[in-house]
Amino acid sequence: MRGRKILLLCAVCMALSGCQGAQKEEEKTSIRIGISLYRGDDTFINNIRSVLEERAKEYERENGIKVTLDIQDAKGSQNTQNNQVERFISLGCDVLCVNLVDRMDASVIIDKAMTAGVPVVFFNRQPVEEDMNRWDQLYYIGVDAKETAVLQGQMVVDLYTDRPEAVDINGDGVVGYVLLEGESSHQDSLIRTEWSIQTLKDGGVPIEKITGGIANWERSQASALMEQWLAAYKNDIELVVSNNDDMALGAIDALERAGAVEVNVVGIDGTTPGLEALENGKMLGTVSANKEVYASAILELAASCAMGQKPPQEYPLTDGAYYWAPQEILVYEDIEENQ
Ligand code: BGC
Repeated sequence: MRGRKILLLCAVCMALSGCQGAQKEEEKTSIRIGISLYRGDDTFINNIRSVLEERAKEYERENGIKVTLDIQDAKGSQNTQNNQVERFISLGCDVLCVNLVDRMDASVIIDKAMTAGVPVVFFNRQPVEEDMNRWDQLYYIGVDAKETAVLQGQMVVDLYTDRPEAVDINGDGVVGYVLLEGESSHQDSLIRTEWSIQTLKDGGVPIEKITGGIANWERSQASALMEQWLAAYKNDIELVVSNNDDMALGAIDALERAGAVEVNVVGIDGTTPGLEALENGKMLGTVSANKEVYASAILELAASCAMGQKPPQEYPLTDGAYYWAPQEILVYEDIEENQ
């Protein structure tokens, strides 16, 4: 359980009901939301950003409240992000949405936000619990990493149960796999890796790890790694388990170059290029986060904070602070059937 402590006097006066970081004024007619992205060139984050922008327009139309989104790219620098947050506060933002660069280093942002009384909705890169517990106006929106991983493993288990020869391509009774991992400091990487492989084992797929490596969520890094692995173990690799779609796409790039397109590749995210690869039969499957719900939850929660209202009921918060967006398995065969 999240033992939130009401530590400071200012927190006491803000804790009256729901999101009350913004001063309760008469009726607000406009709100300003400061959004900082850890890297604007991240494919998944870009997908979320697009939906956020759409949802802000919809919110304006539905509620007659003008919404100004100030979106900044921290370009992988925590220092830059801290400065962006400072600027958002000085510009009078009512709420902040922060996709942390370094999830272990949220304290400067939290200090600034608490001092100014501006609530923060973190997303995708989860602050450590100790930081989250510092104030009751801190929220986190993301997907449950274990759930993602179990779904990813399950899609391979299902295929193996149905048609083992589609997974054990060389028919030797063992499925040789390689593993592409995201940033080592990201909460999703470790959990996804652990539970994906555990699910394959529990589901009776006779897997054997050929090799693995960290490609930091990036397509080009994954492609380079996969190229090396193919040079060393081309005939043993039957499955690529990737922590996200972009790295899965990098692996596919290398597989295509090596003429090894029969190898199965599974990703995570359901990004636009990931879904395209699925439709073209290049990727076996992905675990798709529902981006509509994910981004809507960020926007609606942020807007309620900005308006001094209670958090929206459609997005129930675990321990009063965490919302986990739904996700689903998408496999090539479903797409074939729906066409
Ligand atoms: C996504 C990755 C993304 C990363 C950024 C992960 O949850 O699966 O695609 O690069 O978040 O933080």
